[in-house]
Amino acid sequence: MTLDHYCVMGNPISHSRSPWIHTRFAELTGQAMVYDKREIALDQFARSVHAFMAEGGRGCNITVPFKFEAAALASHTSERAQLAQACNVLSFQNGQMLADNTDGMGLVMDIERNAGWPLKGLRLLLIGAGGAAAGVLGPLINAQPAHISVANRTVGKASALVARHLPLAMLQETELLALDLQGLEADFDVIINATASSLGGVGVPVDASVLKPGALAYDMMYGPAAQGFMDWARAHGAVPRDGLGMLVEQAAEAFLIWRGVRPPSDQVLAELRQRLRACS
Ligand code: ATR
Repeated sequence: MTLDHYCVMGNPISHSRSPWIHTRFAELTGQAMVYDKREIALDQFARSVHAFMAEGGRGCNITVPFKFEAAALASHTSERAQLAQACNVLSFQNGQMLADNTDGMGLVMDIERNAGWPLKGLRLLLIGAGGAAAGVLGPLINAQPAHISVANRTVGKASALVARHLPLAMLQETELLALDLQGLEADFDVIINATASSLGGVGVPVDASVLKPGALAYDMMYGPAAQGFMDWARAHGAVPRDGLGMLVEQAAEAFLIWRGVRPPSDQVLAELRQRLRACS
């Protein structure tokens, strides 16, 4: 019997935890499949996806820097991937390539279910307006918070992101604003860092005065990349959380799309945390 084949494509890819996560999901749900990782040359993305389809691949996860290209490549794009203009899940069905985006759903699941913070009626600050922020804004609005401020160093990018999401925000009765990083007030229940600032080694891109005691301060990264933000949040009385749960939950949502089964993501998140702790 040939096993259904999935993979994650990106560049770089050596750090990816997705093969471990999906292999564990498959074991726990009894799904007969294999999942590996492929490092793709920067100018070979479309070719590599078509080659994987031709080999009989059933679907793939897409990570940096190919999420935008993947959304444009597919023959059908889900509403949430259209809004994000980015795709982290491709499914191959009857010769068709379907693009979806489960990043935002993964973030919301991690905040609401794993961390126990229902977002409805809360005031949110989303820091950043690049690909990572674009991937999560729609699902955040669908969680019906009262307010979301999108703050970015380049305010024009925040304005464009907000403009694209205004119809959805009106539908969900969420107030949506674009701001720059200066002069933010401490009136947020949840702060989400979706910038690449920690990777650049410059630390946290906003003043600590935005943190009110007891607020949830979430970094979409995990491991050493999130540590500076987490330490900063804790030192100022906020509740820090890294993006490891988002990683597992976006994978769980992709697994559900591909296999029609929801894996026990909470168990896999606990196991992954333990593994990473043991390695550090
Ligand atoms: P990603 O796909 O990870 O979101 P990106 O699209 O390059 O990557 O976006 C990076 C985000 O991090 C942007 O919001 C960027 O701000 P600008 O739009 O002003 O470039 C933000 N960012 C990166 N380095 C930063 C820094 N040192 N301070 C503040 N924001 C930073």
